[in-house]
Amino acid sequence: MAAFELEPFMRSHQARVEELLRARADRLVPAGTPPRLAEAMRYSLLAGGKRLRPVMCIAFADAVAKASTLNEVAVDAACALEYVHTYSLVHDDLPCLDNDDLRRGKPTNHKVYGEPLALLAGDGLLTEAFTVLASGPEPVRGMLCAELARAAGAAGMVGGQVLDIAKDREATLAYLLRLHRMKTGALIRAACRMGVLAGGGDLAALVSAETYGDAVGLAFQIADDVLDVTSSAEQLGKPAGADAEAGRFTFPAVLGLEASRRMARELVAKAEEAVRPLEGDDGPLAALARYSVERTS
Ligand code: IPE
Ligand code: IPE
Ligand code: MG
Ligand code: MG
Ligand code: MG
Repeated sequence: MAAFELEPFMRSHQARVEELLRARADRLVPAGTPPRLAEAMRYSLLAGGKRLRPVMCIAFADAVAKASTLNEVAVDAACALEYVHTYSLVHDDLPCLDNDDLRRGKPTNHKVYGEPLALLAGDGLLTEAFTVLASGPEPVRGMLCAELARAAGAAGMVGGQVLDIAKDREATLAYLLRLHRMKTGALIRAACRMGVLAGGGDLAALVSAETYGDAVGLAFQIADDVLDVTSSAEQLGKPAGADAEAGRFTFPAVLGLEASRRMARELVAKAEEAVRPLEGDDGPLAALARYSVERTS
């Protein structure tokens, strides 16, 4: 059987997400946001990016609904995920964290707007995510807010960022797995689970999304670490070699490049297996798992 063709799927889904984000960003200013803050929020939100988390969320919603329904709840969940992800990038790039100058092929938020506004633009994006997700009559929105907050919060992404900068970290593989599952895996896992919840999937589908999201989330950050070593700033749209420079604890540093790549591939196989009950032998979810590690940016 021919493998699912990801490119047209990705292109149309990314375009749909761009359109949704743009429409929401346009509503910020009339709603009373100070124009300079709205500009700083829009700058990072609309700077491009792969839109992987929203695309995964929508793909899971469609897989469980067995149709391309693009229901309002899944669409809002997708946008909320990208708001939270973008805020995490704005803050991650700040001088007090990774101190990076380039993001999504453009100067980082604080390079353009200064540190105070970049900090607040991140805060604005994080908070706005929950306005988007909570606004609507569907009862499932409450559960989705809890899911997103848990993944983004102290026991998820924020906690993972703290493990990443800790001076007293343990130099063990177990620590690295925990760190990556929290700082990056948690939000990707939530994107998958939120798609199932928004699409009205059953418990079995939720378990599939959990297993898939856990494997892809980890594999995605392993690939990010590998790309930091093997790629260029031009290709990535963000600095390369930044991890070594910052003394970060990464997969290539612990396992070497080949073993890191092997581990990412094994995780992808596990993810493909987990979504077989939802989409058969090959479909968009399996292709997205492969893309997460085979990507070049
Ligand atoms: C970068 O995420 C930060 C990590 C969690 C590794 P992405 O690689 O998804 O960044 P964009 O959204 O495409 O810019
Ligand atoms: C950041 O990890 C993960 C986040 C929660 C933002 P990195 O610091 O490796 O992400 P990049 O490489 O700057 O995108
Ligand atoms: Mg970082
Ligand atoms: Mg960084
Ligand atoms: Mg990185």
